[in-house]
Amino acid sequence: MRKPYGSLAPLVTPQQAHKPVDWPARFGRVAPLELEIGCGNGEYLARLAAAHPERDFIGVERMWGRVKKILRKLDLAELANARLIYGEAAIALGYLLPPRSLTRVHTLFPCPWPGDDEGRHRLYGPAFLALVNSRLVEAGRVLLVTDDRDYFDWVLAQLPGSGFDGQSAEVGADYGTKFERKWVGEGQARFYRLDLTKRRHIEVPPSQEAVMRTHRIARFEARGFAPVEAQSGDCRVRGLDFLHDPAQDRGMVRVVVAEPGLTQELWIEIRPHDGGWVVAPARGTGGLMTDGVQLALDAVAAAAEGLPAD
Ligand SMILES: C[S@@+](CC[C@H](N)C(=O)[O-])C[C@H]1O[C@@H](n2cnc3c(N)ncnc32)[C@H](O)[C@@H]1O
Repeated sequence: MRKPYGSLAPLVTPQQAHKPVDWPARFGRVAPLELEIGCGNGEYLARLAAAHPERDFIGVERMWGRVKKILRKLDLAELANARLIYGEAAIALGYLLPPRSLTRVHTLFPCPWPGDDEGRHRLYGPAFLALVNSRLVEAGRVLLVTDDRDYFDWVLAQLPGSGFDGQSAEVGADYGTKFERKWVGEGQARFYRLDLTKRRHIEVPPSQEAVMRTHRIARFEARGFAPVEAQSGDCRVRGLDFLHDPAQDRGMVRVVVAEPGLTQELWIEIRPHDGGWVVAPARGTGGLMTDGVQLALDAVAAAAEGLPAD
């Protein structure tokens, strides 16, 4: 029976990939490289890749249900020039794409997050624009189309100092995507298009995973294990579950780690070692090693020893 996602071959996961990714090696050639952010069901990505076999395309999408649909489309169309990153756009750009590697970035109908004027969730705030700029070649271009006038005006207000020239226009339903059809079905006929051209480079070095400092602890108070909570700057950690295997005197803590641009859920283990215990990311857990994960390790170690988190 055919798998619901077709083939996993085009899939790139930030947790497992070598960073930044050597894209020419992945595609087996050097070709202009384009990125689509938030590809939804993948029809635009598949159409672009089929129409331009001389270019390579990467999609990034954060919802697994949609990633499966995109993978299936790429598989059915037998597209050799498309890859898909399952994750957050800012992580894909920051960790996986080298500076000056993209010729074009496409974003169709991004989530407008009404009222998010601080840009906590919205794409194309100042930090995101700087990241996109840094990953584009000279004169590289961005296409952004939205149905939401307020969000569009907010993006326009972010442009000064971004290194981009912008041209805006009202357009019709020209892109044939699922969300465009949804808005058309609800009676919307006009959409807002922004074309950006890179005029000045902004340097944002590739992000690197932090080297984790694991903990060795001399005692492990499994019975009184306190719920894990910690905060430092923009990073927040909250413990969700604690499991203890008395036969091995081994503990597992499931934590959610939230930091700008990334929320991860992962397991941390407290395992016997050399007469004490080691507190480390659990073997087999995929996670991006970040400052937030370090905060989680520190908090779990303190809780395991029965000490206050700070
Ligand atoms: C409104 S839908 C539009 C989908 C598609 N472009 C279309 O026109 O049908 C926005 C898509 O972007 C994805 N998305 C939103 N924010 C994202 C982010 N920060 N990183 C990756 N994908 C994101 C969502 O999961 C969703 O699939």
